[in-house]
Amino acid sequence: MVLKGKNIVLAVSGGIAAYKVVQVARDLTKEGAEVHVLMSEAATRFVTPLTFQTLTQQKVHTQIWEGWTKEEQGHISLPGHADLILLAPATANTMAKLAHGLADDLISTAYLATPATTPFMVVPAMEHLMFVHPATQQNIQTLRDRGVIVLDPKYGEHATGATGLGRMPEPTEIVAAVRLVLGQRQGDLRGKRVVVTAGGTQEPIDPVRFIGNGSSGQMGYALAQQALERGAKVTLISGPVKLEPPYGCEFVSVRTTREMEAAVNLALEANPPTDVLIMAAAVADFRPLRPSEQKIKKEKDKPTPVIELELNPDILLGLKGRPGLENLLRVGFAAETNDLALNAEKKLKDKDLDLIVANEAISSIGQPDNEVTLIERGGLTQQLARKPKRAVATAILDKVLELLEKKHVMNNA
Ligand code: CTP
Repeated sequence: MVLKGKNIVLAVSGGIAAYKVVQVARDLTKEGAEVHVLMSEAATRFVTPLTFQTLTQQKVHTQIWEGWTKEEQGHISLPGHADLILLAPATANTMAKLAHGLADDLISTAYLATPATTPFMVVPAMEHLMFVHPATQQNIQTLRDRGVIVLDPKYGEHATGATGLGRMPEPTEIVAAVRLVLGQRQGDLRGKRVVVTAGGTQEPIDPVRFIGNGSSGQMGYALAQQALERGAKVTLISGPVKLEPPYGCEFVSVRTTREMEAAVNLALEANPPTDVLIMAAAVADFRPLRPSEQKIKKEKDKPTPVIELELNPDILLGLKGRPGLENLLRVGFAAETNDLALNAEKKLKDKDLDLIVANEAISSIGQPDNEVTLIERGGLTQQLARKPKRAVATAILDKVLELLEKKHVMNNA
């Protein structure tokens, strides 16, 4: 979403990773950005300008001397109109030019012509000996000191077969970093701190068995991802799931309800204070009273074991009335198998929430899409049609933004 209508200059310098940047150009364009590609002469030896031109539907620039029309005045006007400049792959040579202010090709000239307020992101990719060389490291430091965003390369195998630090991050990660930077500058949740819980908690019965549920974490991860893209600082506290944490969040991995409670409390104690807590996790309400230290064996002639349970803390309820959290916007979920609205409204009141997202448990837990009803404090209700969890996350965050604005107006009245 954040990429829609954005103007991005993609500068490609001459490394083998240029072939992967083709995917970056495609993904940015697919998400609605207008992508203007500049290529160094060396880059055109790895990938043809026609490849980028076909994917971006924009003229690709390769020569400083190519003769610009009045409208496109090239290296000066392109960065001037851009929302972000992305240099990928960034070779050691190109970064050295940028660090020293040379302007003898299209990319180095474009760098000098970039307004100080426009984000400039650099994605180094090179052989590990070149990357760790003090000259390259010093140049990277110089760029960082000037406010350039330099992504860290990965450790791994290079095109030559050597292994080390210097591999370019995958295209999905580069695009995620672009979304993040744009969101932090322009997103409607910028500056806000959001804590999201996701996935189900697990309570051990013995070292190999546990009480759990079928939560996949998709809803919470979609919320965390979108809050990040909209500019929020996000802490994602997650039970065990099979998803990658979204790029750029603070990630806390937990297993049990008590671990999740401790992580939530710690996150809420941090300064500056959290603006929004979204409890999307499917929290286990009970735990075995005496988990066995050894695997429980099935033994002939012995009775089937009985697992005695005790109650877990209710994380949201524990925050009710806690001093210092008066300005925290609290969002809960209600997963119900019956009397959806009635049960959800009761939870909203009992747990002192600003918003509850009510959904039918069986058709939502672990599924890729969801049908939810948003119920605000006071009872105002909005029913949403079944849609992918990503779209549900957008609707929830739109409502969160509206409630934050209301709270702000009330606090300042
Ligand atoms: N929740 C929590 N701590 C718990 C259980 C739930 O903070 N021990 C949170 C959930 O993350 C969710 C909301 O409370 O945002 C409602 O959770 P849900 O499982 O629907 O309801 P419960 O309060 O557990 O009640 P019940 O299981 O009886 O329906």
